[in-house]
Amino acid sequence: MIPPSLSESIIENLAEGLIYFDSSTIIAAYNQMAEKITGMPSSFAVGRSFADVFSRDCWLVDMLRKTLEEGKVIAECEGTISQRFGSPLPVVVTASPVFGTDGRQKGVVATMRDLSGIRPLELDSLRKERLACIGVFAASIAHEIKNPLGGMRGVAQLLSRKVSGGELREYSDIIIKEVDRLNKLIEEILDFSKPKELKLRSLNIHKILDNVLVLVARPRGVSISLEYDPSLPHIRGDGEQLTQVFMNFIKNAIEAIEGSGEVRILTRMVTDFHLVEEGLKGIKMVSVEVRDDGRGIRPENLEKVFTPFFTTKPTGTGLGMAIAYKVIKDHGGLFGIESSPGAGTKVVVYLPVAEEVVKDNGE
Ligand SMILES: Nc1ncnc2c1ncn2[C@@H]1O[C@H](COP(=O)(O)OP(=O)(O)OP(=O)(O)O)[C@@H](O)[C@H]1O
Ligand SMILES: [Mg+2]
Repeated sequence: MIPPSLSESIIENLAEGLIYFDSSTIIAAYNQMAEKITGMPSSFAVGRSFADVFSRDCWLVDMLRKTLEEGKVIAECEGTISQRFGSPLPVVVTASPVFGTDGRQKGVVATMRDLSGIRPLELDSLRKERLACIGVFAASIAHEIKNPLGGMRGVAQLLSRKVSGGELREYSDIIIKEVDRLNKLIEEILDFSKPKELKLRSLNIHKILDNVLVLVARPRGVSISLEYDPSLPHIRGDGEQLTQVFMNFIKNAIEAIEGSGEVRILTRMVTDFHLVEEGLKGIKMVSVEVRDDGRGIRPENLEKVFTPFFTTKPTGTGLGMAIAYKVIKDHGGLFGIESSPGAGTKVVVYLPVAEEVVKDNGE
C-alpha cells in the first residue's frame, strides 16, 4: 500500500512513462516521462480521451481499448509512437486494468518504456543475442558430457548382464534409463544450437496444423476448436520446422489446462499490419494464434519462456519456446505472447505469405 502523500511523487519520478485513463477513456494522469516520450505536455493530454491523444498511433489505441474492454493485462507490446515534434520513437507498452475496492474496473494504467536508448533493434535483438550465447555455451558443454555418458552406459550394460537379477539388476537398469534420458536432452541441446538450414517452400498452414493435431494426445476434458480462415494464401516456410513449432504451442496449451478447458486455433490474414519493425510494413502476413484457457503464465515469467531451459514442468526441457522463437525469426516472422495467470495464454505468430501468391494478388 502506498501512502497517498508518496504516490504522487513516485508516479512523477518513475523512469517509465505512466498514463492512467478512466472507464470513459479520459486521461487523468500523465507523468513527466510520458510527456518526454510522447513530446506532449500533460496539460494537453489530461482531460482528453486517449483515442484523441494517440490518434496517430492506432496500434496503441487498439491496445488500450482492448485492455479497457476486456479487463486483461496486455504486456510488453512493442511499437513506435509519433512524437509531437521529432521522429517516431520505439516504445514498449504494458497496459493493465485498474480495479476499485468494489472489484469494478475503474480504468486502465499504461506504462511506456523508451527503447531507442537500449538498442535500435529493440528487445528482439536482445532476445536473439541471448539465445545465440546460450546456444554456443550449451553446445560446448553438451559435447563434453556426451562421451563420458556413452562410457557410463556401456559399463552399466555390462553390469546389467553380469548380475542375474534382483536389486543390482534393477539399479543398473535405472542407470541405463537415466543415461538415456540425459542423452536425449543433450541431443536436443545440440540440435538447438546447430544452425539449421531452412527448406523454404510454399505451404498450406492449415495442413501443417492438421498434421500436428493428428500427432498430439488430447486428454479427456480438453476440446480443440479450429477457426481457420478458408481464404488464407500459402505461406513461405519449412514444413518440418513449423510442425515442431506448432506442436510445441499446442502441447503447451493442452498441458496448461487443468481438468477441462479449450484450445482454440485461429488463422487469419493480416493486412492492417502495424506491429513493430519498419521493414515489415507492406509485407503480407498470415497470423496463427493458439489460445488456451489454462493456468496462464505469471508476468515475471513471461519473458523467461523464451530462455532455453526455462521450464515449470517436472519433465519439460524448456527448449520448446526457445526453438519456436528461433524458427519464427528465421522465417522472417514475428512472435507475440500474452498471458494472465488463471485466464489463459495466447501465442501468436505472423508468417510471410509466399511470394508467388502476393504476385497473384496483383502486388
Ligand atoms: N500455453 C501456456 N500456458 C502456460 N504456460 C506456458 C504455456 N506455454 C509455455 N508456458 C510456460 O513456458 C515454459 C517453457 O515452455 P517450453 O515449451 O519452452 O518448455 P516446456 O513446455 O516446459 O518443455 P518442452 O517444450 O521441452 O516439453 C513452460 O514450462 C511453461 O511454464
Ligand atoms: Mg513445451
